[in-house]
Amino acid sequence: MIPDKAPKEDVFHAAGGLRKDAHVPSFETYKELYTKSVDSPDEFWGDVVKDFFWKTKHAGRFLDYNFDVTKGEIFIKCMEGATTNICYNVLDRNVHERKLGEKIAFYWEGNEPGDDLTITYKELLHQVCKFANVLKSQGVKKGDRVSIYMPMVIELVVAMLACARIGAVHSIVFAGYSAESLCERILDSQCTLLITADGFYRGDKLINLKLIADDALQKCRDKSFSVLRCIMLKHLCKDEGASAGSQSPPAKRSCPDMQEKQKDRVKKGHPLPKVPWNPEVDVCWHTLMDGASEDCEPEWCESEDPLFILYTSGSTGKPKGVMHTVSGYMLYTALTFKLVFDYQPGDVYWCTADIGWITGHSYITYGPLANGATCVLFEGLPTYPDVSRMWEIVDKYHVTKFYTAPTAIRLLMKYGTEPVHKYKRDSLKVLGTVGEPINPEAWQWYYNVVGDKRCPVVDTFWQTETGGHVLTPLPAATPMKPGSATFPFFGVIPAILNESGEELEGPSEGYLVFKQPWPGMMRTVYGNHDRFETTYFKKFPGFYVTGDGCRRDKDGYYWITGRIDDMLNVSGHLLSTAEVESALVEHEAVAEAAVVGRPHPVKGESLYCFVTLNDGVSYNKALEAQLKQQVREKIGAIATPDYIQNAPGLPKTRSGKIMRRVLRKIASNERDLGDISTLADSSVVEQLFENRCCAAV
Ligand code: PRX
Repeated sequence: MIPDKAPKEDVFHAAGGLRKDAHVPSFETYKELYTKSVDSPDEFWGDVVKDFFWKTKHAGRFLDYNFDVTKGEIFIKCMEGATTNICYNVLDRNVHERKLGEKIAFYWEGNEPGDDLTITYKELLHQVCKFANVLKSQGVKKGDRVSIYMPMVIELVVAMLACARIGAVHSIVFAGYSAESLCERILDSQCTLLITADGFYRGDKLINLKLIADDALQKCRDKSFSVLRCIMLKHLCKDEGASAGSQSPPAKRSCPDMQEKQKDRVKKGHPLPKVPWNPEVDVCWHTLMDGASEDCEPEWCESEDPLFILYTSGSTGKPKGVMHTVSGYMLYTALTFKLVFDYQPGDVYWCTADIGWITGHSYITYGPLANGATCVLFEGLPTYPDVSRMWEIVDKYHVTKFYTAPTAIRLLMKYGTEPVHKYKRDSLKVLGTVGEPINPEAWQWYYNVVGDKRCPVVDTFWQTETGGHVLTPLPAATPMKPGSATFPFFGVIPAILNESGEELEGPSEGYLVFKQPWPGMMRTVYGNHDRFETTYFKKFPGFYVTGDGCRRDKDGYYWITGRIDDMLNVSGHLLSTAEVESALVEHEAVAEAAVVGRPHPVKGESLYCFVTLNDGVSYNKALEAQLKQQVREKIGAIATPDYIQNAPGLPKTRSGKIMRRVLRKIASNERDLGDISTLADSSVVEQLFENRCCAAV
């Protein structure tokens, strides 16, 4: 239950100015709207539906579903009978009905400072229509799956929206994934077309994307599956120097001086990518676009037609193809974007995530564009060419709403306040975080240093599966508690269950579940509905199980405690790894911490902690004792770490997530690591094995 009144103690409030024009200006309004969303969903969502274009309207209930495996197959249907097109809604509607054609849709900021482009809504619509015709010319039809493996460039948005326009299903694979992972995803979704680019730079490092894509396609062929076409964008190469050059005319980018910048790049000694070319499969993006028409009637899709597949890791090691459908996802991402960032027409919004993850799908592409927002699309890294880059970009584009991950905040915290203070950041109004629990220390730094105590921090909890935010503050309405994702979004009913599946009331800790669907949640695991039911609905019939642990405090605030598989049971007490990590990170010597369980003959599990120290701090026995004491003090004797290992680097995925599964193996000295293809840097693992705590060997 959401309390009638917001608490007054231990909370942070939004500045008064923000409240004046906010969509949800107070806790009371939030509570009223929440009650309406749960008691009268048809009325609540009916108001949202009116903002969009429907070729045919729906009849009957807004949402129809079965959430209980014991009563039959799990299904979720939203606005059955309606037909629409999401691309039409995010582009044509903005250009033609809302007269936003000249408005900037994206400021593109490249890896190198000074590489930039802009694209308006009208230009984006033209590009998308042309590329939609290109897809058709390559034989892509409604329902076909298309793999997209591209860097953070505007053409990535063009490709995904072009798929949506013709009713094809995009499956975007993060451009940091290996050939093996790309192959696995192409095979699972049986994609007949791959869209990629020649290559890109991540900081100083050249990524030969086409080379990796080719490797993936060969692996597919080895498994008797061939894609029909591979469309390649020339992002870095122009004709000279690229072996694809003889096949195709010079790259035409929207930015006239892009070619000059590429020349500079070569002069600076940055090599161009290697571009293997197979004329039987490969086609050049630019050649195809040159001949394509700008007129493309959208395909009118059923509400429950698939929109995209996005792979997320599963506990079995085989990735799950999370599938989202058209209407519910459109409404949900549009509304969450508008209310959670309190989007206003003059805003410049920047989400630093990659479009290859759900955050980029929902909150770089679909949600912001549905609102006619102007976004920054950033290709580079927060630390390149220096650790001020984020704040430089904030000032350059006068960013008002900024959304990033706790891992980025902790990384930048290590360098102190000076790189932040070099820039004004006075345009900022709302800050957001996503992806993992944010430790209160990082929250405070984000709030105090980045936001100058002026900007509310929205800690948004959600998942690839949920499609959009499910637990989150609304910036002008919800008093914030550092580290808490606060309350449910509209239409979402959370509950906390114990191991026996009993619902806990009041302050409690256990499994976070949801009692009913919301429009934007996933519909199935692509090609494997059984796995969908087993993973999310079997453990506690009647509920969607998030896999996360959660605590509700005396004020009704929700605190995500980490994945349940990251929960530890020490002498019969349930402990959250995130909680211990937060306690460790609060020590001034520690930059980052990761805690895993190690089997223990008496206690069940013991705590094995990996800590990365701040620059210039050295590890010794005295520090180890202090860290143990710190955790003891913050949580209790039961949480006293058994082992602490100095870890100059932690095994992370390319998106920055710590791979705790690998750490558990290191802690237990088990060399069989399973699939580690998603690791950003595998040398870290060997180092950690070498430096294991002696006592734990
Ligand atoms: O454990 C939760 C954590 O990230 C998981 C979902 O990961 P993914 O599907 O990759 O999507 C990430 C972007 C939405 C969740 O099960 N998580 C995400 N946001 C938060 C979070 N944990 C705590 N607080 C958050 N705000």
